[in-house]
Amino acid sequence: MLFKALLTAVTLVASVNAAHYKRVACPSGQTVSNAACCVFKDLAEDLSANLFGGVCGEEAHESLRLAFHDAIGFSASKGPSAGGGADGSPILFPDVEPNFAANNGIIDSVEFLTPFLGAHNVSAADLIQLAAAVGITNCPGAPRVPFLGGRANAKAPSIDGLVPEPQNDVSTILARMKDGGNFSPAEVVALLASHSIARSDHVDPEHGAVPFDTTPFTFDTQFFLETLLKGTGFPGTGPNTGESLSPLPLGSGQNIGELRLQSDFAIARDSRTACVWQAFINEQEAMTIAFEAVLFKLSLIGQNPKTLVDCSEVVPAALPAVKKPATYPAGKSKADVQVSCSSIPFPTLSTDPGAATVIPHCPPSQGGDADDCDSDEGSL
Ligand code: HEM
Ligand SMILES: *[C@@H]1O[C@H](CO)[C@@H](O)[C@H](O)[C@H]1NC(C)=O
Repeated sequence: MLFKALLTAVTLVASVNAAHYKRVACPSGQTVSNAACCVFKDLAEDLSANLFGGVCGEEAHESLRLAFHDAIGFSASKGPSAGGGADGSPILFPDVEPNFAANNGIIDSVEFLTPFLGAHNVSAADLIQLAAAVGITNCPGAPRVPFLGGRANAKAPSIDGLVPEPQNDVSTILARMKDGGNFSPAEVVALLASHSIARSDHVDPEHGAVPFDTTPFTFDTQFFLETLLKGTGFPGTGPNTGESLSPLPLGSGQNIGELRLQSDFAIARDSRTACVWQAFINEQEAMTIAFEAVLFKLSLIGQNPKTLVDCSEVVPAALPAVKKPATYPAGKSKADVQVSCSSIPFPTLSTDPGAATVIPHCPPSQGGDADDCDSDEGSL
């Protein structure tokens, strides 16, 4: 029931996944269902091998954020001159959109993705959406999102003001998401599952790589639980613009504490969104399925899917979810939850044992050199 609004998009995913029969040989020796998918097959393999390296790290996170910031550059009310949606504009006009305040940090992903355009005959628009789809498959629990290829490149950048900011109120964000991508409030909540694999580099100017939940390298439901815990402090010297009190502000060395966005705080508690938010807690499958549908929908903003080719097969299988139920971080319990939905019971969860939860700075497979795990590694 709660997820009913998301079903239309799921149906769309299913219909696009149908119809693969005849295989075609690519110049590289691969086979695909449609010759138009050869370039995307090669690109997906190049991204996996040479950008993501099997890790749900900064490159995967930042590629996902870029896919959003590109796609939401669209406005049904203002018309095509405001922006073309998922059209590659941040890469094609690197001196324009990356300079908008809401796009702080986007230049990193623009810079690490641009070289792939030289090696592959694809549009910047397709590159951005495919990078997001491929990147998240390195995050345990993430969906394998369908990919349609053949987007035309943007002819102009988007105007400023289309990307939501954490200091915007809930009504402003919901209205922008409706106008930008025809997203319902429930779909906005599903999209925010992305903040389960996210860390802030710019909200607190003094601290980079500050995670939004205790498991930034795993696409799990901890984010939806932890955003509902009572805030107690700031990981740095907050509050910065768009920052709310965090329930887990304490860190240890490079393992900095958790940061909470004001927008995530507010959407978790708003009557229009709180029940969908709560319903994702400890519901890995529901969250993954819902996210698959909305990320696919996002990838088509401003595009006509009928003119695109289904190349979903080039997206690798995602890593299976970690088989661990959602838990309260050590020291936290139901008493710390600011319950904001009264129509469904709050799930029963256990608490992690031990001393206060320290959030790792590096993905498990990158445990060695902590500096490699920062997002600014290339530019520092
Ligand atoms: C709807 C309102 C949203 C707001 C206000 C918002 C805001 C933010 C902010 C302020 C950051 C931190 C940037 C930094 O300091 O480096 C961030 C990070 C991120 N956001 Fe969002 N976001 C929203 C929705 C989304 C959506 C829909 C997606 C993807 C589908 C997304 C994906 C991400 C990711 C992956 C990161 C982490 C990037 C990294 O780790 O480097 N966000 N978001
Ligand atoms: C690049 O792809 C387009 C179709 O998307 C095609 O028309 C063009 O010939 C290709 N260019 C090269 C150099 O292969």
